[in-house]
Amino acid sequence: MKVIISGKGGSGKSTISVLTARALSDRGYKVLLVDGDESNVGLHRLMGISQPVVFMDNFGGKKGFKQRLNQAFPKGNADEILGRSMKFDDLPDECVADVDRIKMIAIGKIHNEGEGCACPVGMLSKMVLSRLVIEDDEIVIIDAEAGVEHFGRGVVAGCDMVICVVDPSFESFMLAKKITDMAESAGKELCFVLNKVDDNVEDAMCKNIDKGKVIAKIPNSNEIFMDSLEGRKISTDIPEIGEICKKIEESKKNFSSE
Ligand SMILES: Nc1ncnc2c1ncn2[C@@H]1O[C@H](COP(=O)(O)OP(=O)(O)OP(=O)(O)O)[C@@H](O)[C@H]1O
Ligand SMILES: [Mg+2]
Repeated sequence: MKVIISGKGGSGKSTISVLTARALSDRGYKVLLVDGDESNVGLHRLMGISQPVVFMDNFGGKKGFKQRLNQAFPKGNADEILGRSMKFDDLPDECVADVDRIKMIAIGKIHNEGEGCACPVGMLSKMVLSRLVIEDDEIVIIDAEAGVEHFGRGVVAGCDMVICVVDPSFESFMLAKKITDMAESAGKELCFVLNKVDDNVEDAMCKNIDKGKVIAKIPNSNEIFMDSLEGRKISTDIPEIGEICKKIEESKKNFSSE
């Protein structure tokens, strides 16, 4: 299963990605946690480690990668860059961090002012995800950038399931509707995780969301908030994350029996 975590900026995508990756690892899965957000600075930090080499930088950055693409494409495809398929172990060691039995990789980052658009990062994400061949005990969790760019760039096409994180805001409800349409047109299973849920917002959230697609309600947690405020790794256990794992396991079973 390759599961992409989508949603509005600040809704909690990175937090849910990290907590879900940890919970799946605790259940015995080999997890690859992919930082697919070119703008964030913090996914590794949320796991309490510093950033290893960014995958795109291994190709000489965006410039080097674009040159490799230009060389490859006249011949018809980009297989000569990453091969026709990849396994977890084919990812370059220098780009992969092993933390809490989870492998982590960041696809690409914007480093400098004026360096151009992030399309090559989307391209590389798409190439990696569509080539990754995973074993039955392996799961990939992708922390996407905010909004819907990953749909536009075709990154979602290489995933099996979309989890849209919804926080208590009208913008989040609107985006959830848009993501519902986009996931449907991409032919991908879509679920919602309601995040930062307090008693006083739960009813309003449920009213504005297709309830049948809600797989978990993650409480508003002061521990998560304080870890973030003070720049610590996320240390809290949130039992409701287990509901996300159950759904991923269930979809994984259906997926492998198809
Ligand atoms: N359940 C929660 N309870 C309390 N605070 C939360 C919860 N989930 C996330 N947060 C806080 O909300 C903020 C945004 O979270 P996070 O960085 O995970 O969101 P994001 O969707 O990945 O943001 P971005 O779009 O910038 O990548 C952080 O301060 C985080 O600690
Ligand atoms: Mg994030």
